[in-house]
Amino acid sequence: MGIRKILTDKDPALHKTCKPVTDFNERLWKLLDDMKETLKESGGVGLAAPQVGILRRVVVVDTGEEIVELVNPSLLETSGEQYGPEGCLSLPGKYGLVKRPNVASVRAQDRNGNWFALDGEELTARCFCHELDHLDGIMFTEVMDRFLTDEELESGE
Ligand code: NI
Repeated sequence: MGIRKILTDKDPALHKTCKPVTDFNERLWKLLDDMKETLKESGGVGLAAPQVGILRRVVVVDTGEEIVELVNPSLLETSGEQYGPEGCLSLPGKYGLVKRPNVASVRAQDRNGNWFALDGEELTARCFCHELDHLDGIMFTEVMDRFLTDEELESGE
C-alpha cells in the first residue's frame, strides 16, 4: 500500500518543474510516509516526488542516520567539490560521472511547515543536489560528464 511505483526516465513527469507545497495536510504526510517506505525498499539514497508521479517540491534523503523529509527545499550554501559516479532510481543500472559540491546546506520545511536548515557532506551533499535537481525536471544525465563504461561498472566504480 505504501510502496509507490518509481517512474523511469522516459516518463514526462521527470522532466517538469514541480510546484511548491502549500498544504501541510494528511495527503502530504501520506506522500512522505510512502516515499520513505519506497526509498527503503529500493535501497536508494534519495527520492523526489516527481519520481513517483507527484509534481510537488518534496524530497526524502537517507543521510545514513535517518531519512530526512525536505518540503520546498532550496540550497542555502555549497562548498568544496567532489567528482564521482552517480545513479538514479529512475535510471536503473546506469551511472554517470558528476561533479557536485562536497558540502551542501539546504533550507526546507518539515511535514508541519516549520522551516529548518540541514548540512550534508559527501554522499548526502551529492544526494541533496541530485534530488533538488529532480524538482526542476533535471536528470543527472543532463549534468554529468559521461556514463560509466561497462568495464568501469564491472571493476566496481
Ligand atoms: Ni534520481
